[in-house]
Amino acid sequence: MMQADTEVHKGLEGVIVTESSVGFVDGQAGRLVYRGYNIETLADNSNYEEVAYLLLYGHLPNAKEFENFRARLRTTMDLNADVVALIKSIAPKAHPMSVLRTVVSFIGAQDQKSNSTDLRDQEEMSLKLMSKLPAIVGTISRASKGQDAIKPDPELSYAANFLYCSTGKRPDKEHEKIMDTCLILHADHGSNASTFSALVTISTLADMYSAVTSAISTLKGPLHGGANELALETIKKVAKPENAEHVLSEMLAKKEKIMGFGHRVYKVYDPRARILKKYAESVTRRNGKEDLFRTAEQMEKVMISKLGEKGIFPNVDFYSGMVYDSLGFDSRMFTPIFALARIAGWTARSLEYIRDNKLFRPKAKYIGEAGPKEYVGIQKR
Ligand code: SDX
Repeated sequence: MMQADTEVHKGLEGVIVTESSVGFVDGQAGRLVYRGYNIETLADNSNYEEVAYLLLYGHLPNAKEFENFRARLRTTMDLNADVVALIKSIAPKAHPMSVLRTVVSFIGAQDQKSNSTDLRDQEEMSLKLMSKLPAIVGTISRASKGQDAIKPDPELSYAANFLYCSTGKRPDKEHEKIMDTCLILHADHGSNASTFSALVTISTLADMYSAVTSAISTLKGPLHGGANELALETIKKVAKPENAEHVLSEMLAKKEKIMGFGHRVYKVYDPRARILKKYAESVTRRNGKEDLFRTAEQMEKVMISKLGEKGIFPNVDFYSGMVYDSLGFDSRMFTPIFALARIAGWTARSLEYIRDNKLFRPKAKYIGEAGPKEYVGIQKR
């Protein structure tokens, strides 16, 4: 019996697949909310560990809860020798996102808890992964340049430890605040592709390491988390504000997508891009790269004049690369930094989903031959 004709929602555009109280993206108003708090409020007042707690547990922690949470993360933040050896063996040749995906999977393979579907064990795996990511991503950054690993410092914050494990220097307050804000801005974002991948994986009652490995694999793509690396490349290719009009016109004429612009949900300016743009302006001015920022600003003007009517504006990936570049990171590290933040949203939403689990299994509309066809032996084909 052939399927009745049903409408196909390619890419699940506009389809609501679950309910969540973790966060909300208002694409028309350009508003991003984590558990009821506007992203601007959290970026101005909070810190990444507090926001991770908020996303995971539904409320901002009091002083005791915050101390216990930080202490819990510190108990598993170190990397064991074979994880460091694995990173050193593959980082010089592989893309940092491929290394990150491999390392998370390797840590999962080592953890006996990864055979459990118990909710408490899934939470344990979430916190263990979150605690290790500053050292993992920092070690990947160093190993890709042939540098030795730096052990994380339990006195430092999540953001500061990532910078310390990457550079070997404890960051000044300004650099720590910039990185911390970037992590807050990237911590969660509704049912984006990588979070959805995590949900599909965890809905089969697979373990959290498997769900996060799915999410990292998905985030790597240039239409998603990989856009920040390519957006900075485009800005450098345009090189001067006066080039923006003709370079972008040429790219658009060839139907090329301009990385860092457009969004499935935001049809107005991405509120995260607004905050990142301010940081990009101040850090590029401080390190004498104002031209880069002026070029980006002109690209924004050109793109909005051409495609603003279609709801195409800068997204989170357009200015973030400039900020990371000014902190000394290679562009290939931009997406792993995205993952370092998004671990909070991936795990918070996965834990929320399995508390009222339903296996994801959508349909595909069959448009092949109805059959049944006769089988013809190979000699007669
Ligand atoms: C992230 O989902 C999330 O929340 C993701 C994220 C998060 O925090 O998790 O916000 C992070 O992934 C941000 C997006 C990063 N990706 C990019 O910057 C890549 C460039 N952007 C595009 O590829 C695109 O805008 C998408 C993929 C982000 C969204 O595209 P859709 O919703 O699938 O829409 P589409 O590709 O069908 O585009 C609709 C029209 C097309 O033109 P027509 O065929 O109708 O003539 O808009 C055009 C597109 O060509 N268009 C663009 C464009 N984005 C859309 N044209 C040029 N440059 C672009 N960037």
